[in-house]
Amino acid sequence: MGQDISPFQAITISRRAHELKAAGQRILHMEFGQPSTGAPSAAIAAAHGVLDQEAMGYWESVPLKARIAQHYQGTYGVTVDPRRIALTCGASPALVLALSTAFNPGDRIALARPGYVAYRNTIRALNLVPVEIPCGEAERFQISAAAIAALDPAPQGILLASPANPTGTILPNAELAAIAAVARRIGARLVSDEIYHGLSYGPAIHSMLEHEPSAYIVNSFSKYFSMAGWRLGWLVSPEDGVARTSAYIGNLFLTAPSLAQHAGLVAMDSRAELDGHVEVYRANRTLMLEALPRLGLERIAPPDGAFYIYADISRFTDDSLGFCLRLLEETGVATAPGVDFDPVEGQRFMRFSFALSTEEIREALGLLEPWFRAQPRR
Ligand SMILES: Cc1ncc(COP(=O)(O)O)c(C=O)c1O
Repeated sequence: MGQDISPFQAITISRRAHELKAAGQRILHMEFGQPSTGAPSAAIAAAHGVLDQEAMGYWESVPLKARIAQHYQGTYGVTVDPRRIALTCGASPALVLALSTAFNPGDRIALARPGYVAYRNTIRALNLVPVEIPCGEAERFQISAAAIAALDPAPQGILLASPANPTGTILPNAELAAIAAVARRIGARLVSDEIYHGLSYGPAIHSMLEHEPSAYIVNSFSKYFSMAGWRLGWLVSPEDGVARTSAYIGNLFLTAPSLAQHAGLVAMDSRAELDGHVEVYRANRTLMLEALPRLGLERIAPPDGAFYIYADISRFTDDSLGFCLRLLEETGVATAPGVDFDPVEGQRFMRFSFALSTEEIREALGLLEPWFRAQPRR
């Protein structure tokens, strides 16, 4: 039997935001990590074209798998046989596939805390055991080779994300290499969630595949490619995992949406438009980093990538969900409470997503500044 898992509280916030919107209130959505932009225009045009011509049956796009393989060669200098690539309905099923095919019930999976809410919960739902490594400001909220090596007993798996959610911090390439070396030494399988690749404001982003060919790599069209609702992603399995992944996907999920596969292929060559979004996020990040100290939010790890800022709100509250709900009711700005990402320390953090237009970020900051200034400090 599966284990009970906790709900995603950002959904609670979002539901309330939509109720307020329906009642006529202006809402600024900073609660979910999703671009406010649509799919690249050429991808949308391609989708319109195929809709008139195709029956949209079950389908696995051979050209898309080949294009993804080419992306690994071009971006990271890594050769990936397209047979190793499974197309999925986003990173979420890719994560389920990786965890369910690579591990046995009861296996211990090491991961950073704070981390993406679904990691802990998906691990539990699959009857695996999350081993959360507390990662504070000093560690820039990221897992390290040394922290993994210190685990006793050693875990059977390691799940990592760089850039990370909720902090946007990027693991340097040398640390990725060190983590791969520790994993090999202790015999742990790596699962690397690379969903925020393409979204960096400086540091280079490297793939775990550059260091460990036996790692499972999760990725998606939801973030850089701005196609969250199209539900398209992929999993790269190691050679020894391909047959099992393919059997699992055929039984558990069948295929990814055909329309999204057509559009995704075109999106992969829409870099100019997509890099334009990154420039908007870069400007938004700068505005946020300038403004947050004026709000009394000085304790933040400036994000290297993704589109999040994770801020310490302990001087205001020890109830991050209540705080985010009150902020929403009183300003119309929806944010995510830290409890989603960290069940232990998360009461004193909140996450802002800045994947909005720069105009919206300015508007949000105009509302946040007086509200935060008016809050009693503890
Ligand atoms: C780190 C991380 N992994 C996976 C996902 C799931 O993404 P998808 O929409 O591709 O299922 C998200 C979504 O926010 C995420 O932040």
